[in-house]
Order: sequence, then C-alpha cells, then structure tokens
Amino acid sequence: MKLTINQNRLSQELEALAEFSDAPAPAVTRIVFSDQDLKARGWLKNLCLAAGLDVRQDAVGNTFARWHGSDRGAPAVGTGSHIDAIPHSGRYDGTVGVLGGLEAIRALQESGFQPRRSLEVLLFTSEEPTRFGIGCLGSRLLSGTLDSSVDQTLRDADKRSLQQIRTGAGFTGALETVRLSPDYYSAFVELHIEQGPLLERRCVPLGAVTAIAAPASLRIEIEGQGGHAGAVLMPDRHDAFLAAAELALELEAAARATGSTDSVATTGVCDIFPRAINSIPSRVHVEADIRDIDAVRRDSMIDRLEESCAEVAARRGVSITREFINRDAPAACDPGIVAAIASVCEENGFPFDRMVSRAYHDSLFMARICPTAMLFIPCRNGVSHRPDEYSSPEAIAQGTLVLAQTLAKLAS
Ligand code: GLV
Ligand code: MN
Ligand code: MN
Repeated sequence: MKLTINQNRLSQELEALAEFSDAPAPAVTRIVFSDQDLKARGWLKNLCLAAGLDVRQDAVGNTFARWHGSDRGAPAVGTGSHIDAIPHSGRYDGTVGVLGGLEAIRALQESGFQPRRSLEVLLFTSEEPTRFGIGCLGSRLLSGTLDSSVDQTLRDADKRSLQQIRTGAGFTGALETVRLSPDYYSAFVELHIEQGPLLERRCVPLGAVTAIAAPASLRIEIEGQGGHAGAVLMPDRHDAFLAAAELALELEAAARATGSTDSVATTGVCDIFPRAINSIPSRVHVEADIRDIDAVRRDSMIDRLEESCAEVAARRGVSITREFINRDAPAACDPGIVAAIASVCEENGFPFDRMVSRAYHDSLFMARICPTAMLFIPCRNGVSHRPDEYSSPEAIAQGTLVLAQTLAKLAS
C-alpha cells in the first residue's frame, strides 16, 4: 500500500483552524463553546463530511467522524484529540491530532485501502480546564470517570452550568448517554506534539508513548485579615498572600526533593482580594497542579503540601482550606499498540523513542476503557501553551504517516 500524506493540505488546514481565535495571531485562544470554538467545530465537521465520513456529536459535544469498515459490527479503531486552546497559546496542541487523524484517514482512502474495522476520528470536548476548571471533560465522561451530576455542579466563571452552556451551544440530550461501552473501540491512538524538549534534543522524530503521568489539581482558599498597608504593624499582620507564597515555594521544594525529573508542581492561579496596592491581602484563591508518572511519589508531594498548609496556617494565624479538583491515576499504554507503532517506525526506517507523557491528554481516560497509546512528534524547543509553539510541516506529516500506517494495521 502506497500512502501519501498531503503535507500542504494538512499545513493549510492547521493554519485555517488557527484563524478561529479570540487572540491576535500568532496567539490562539479558543475556549470550549465560545463562538470561535463553535465556528471551528462547524468548519471541521464540513471537512469530515467532505471526506465522506459519518459525523455524530454526543450531548457534551464530543464529535465522532467515522469511515465505515467492511465489518460494521466490529469495535472500531479511534484516533483524535482536542481543538480547544488555553488563553494565549499556540496552534498545534491538540489540533495536530484531530487534523492529522483526518488526514491519515483521507490518505488511507486515497491509497485504496479498505479497512475491516471502522476508523473514527474523534474531537474531544474541553481537554483544557480553562472554562470548567477540570481538564479532559469529554473523555472523562466517555470513560465514566465523571458522572452526569457535573451537568449542574460544573460552572464557568460567570456561574453558568455546564448544562446551560452545552445546550445553548446546541449539544442537547442527557449527559448519561455520553459514556462509551467498553467494546466501542478495539484501539485508540492519539497523535500529539511532545510539548517537551526530549525528541528535539535527541534528534529523534517520533515518540511511542508507554505511559501518561498522573495529574492532580487542587483549589486552596486562604482567609487572613485585611487592613491598611501603612497603618497595620508588621507583627500584627495575617497576610493571606504571604501564606500563599510560602505554600507555592513549599510545593516547588516538594517537587524538587523527589529527585525525579518526572515530578512537577505548578501554582498557576493566585487571585488576591481585594487586590489594592495599599491594602493587605485578606483572601487568596490558589490553584495548584501536581503530577508524576509514579502515583505514590505524586501523592508524597501532596502530603508535604498538606503538612505545610497546617504549619503555615498556625504560624501566620490564617485559615487554609483545600479541595481536590481531580486526583487521577496514571495510565499505562497498551503494549500491543506501542508495538504496532514501533513496527511501523522500523518498517519505514524512522528512528523513534519509547517515552512517557508528562502532560495529560484525553488518552489518559480513553486508556480506562480501551487499549490506548500515543504517538509524539517534536516541537521547537519543547515549547507549548505559548504562541510560539511550533512543529514543522515535515514533522507533522511524518507523524501523520506513522499514524495512518498504525491505524491501517489496527483496522485490518
Ligand atoms: C494539558 O493541556 C496539560 O496541561 O497537560
Ligand atoms: Mn494543552
Ligand atoms: Mn493537548
């Protein structure tokens, strides 16, 4: 089978998708169910229809575009990723897996290949946590990791519920119907930029992902005492922000102390109230993200943070409460799919590495319901979640070729 990836078509489509943005180029901001996200979804749906795929959308907006195989009763082979983009980010995170998945299917169609199993490209809703505070919303629901009560409990910054927002965007129906049966897919493969520096540093064009790190995130509310920035004497203060600052530094120390490069911790949100230069912060809302490929080591960082919360609260005379947003287990990729990716690379003479994913992906949750693996391609300087995120058209086309050949093996 002679497979040709149409590199120009794919590059042009990535460029066109990046135009659906609430930030000026080269930055991309595409928040789930915003007007730009809905327009981008419509545009993508038309591309799928033009490729002759059967398109369906579920109640939370996960979108499935299927090329029927000769055995319609057999579990399908899935691929895909997300198109939502965090504020002021780049154009390749997620989009390479969606448009690359579609291009892989089109290349297989054009080659004359006839799949036995159906092949499906999947656009997951809200991989990014921006709007509802939790990442991988669509894949958590598909895998039964979240239940339908989130329809009311998840709210955006304007306090609108998931149900209000999704139905307003045209995704109606009961959230219970989103869950996929375990025999829906026989395999799932997600193509993604690495979002780290390793492939580029080693001059290796492809990564076969063997495991995905376990993410946890929590909200911390700190209540101290406000007051006049000039008049309140230093020994009398209960400054909520200084407590937050100590916790952020302690969390950094906890991640460094494990001695493993797989341990990472980030304090990405810190909202100060009342936020006035001449007023002592009385209340602070903090959100922290803690990850490791080893769940026990990840939990040891959480334990250390919890000990510091107690110590800092007592010493500074502030109250600190915590709530987990998510605390997920890591995922092991399916050895059979990793072997299929490896053999495709070997057949082509493409060097590849087996590696872990420190970022999370919808594959973390797909792995709970079907054999799953990921394929990474390099990105410049390992940069992601920034406007200067970049992966070359050649690297994307090479990843898409390996994806297409892997899908063909899995669907035969
Ligand atoms: C995904 O965007 C992540 O934060 O890993
Ligand atoms: Mn991302
Ligand atoms: Mn992503």
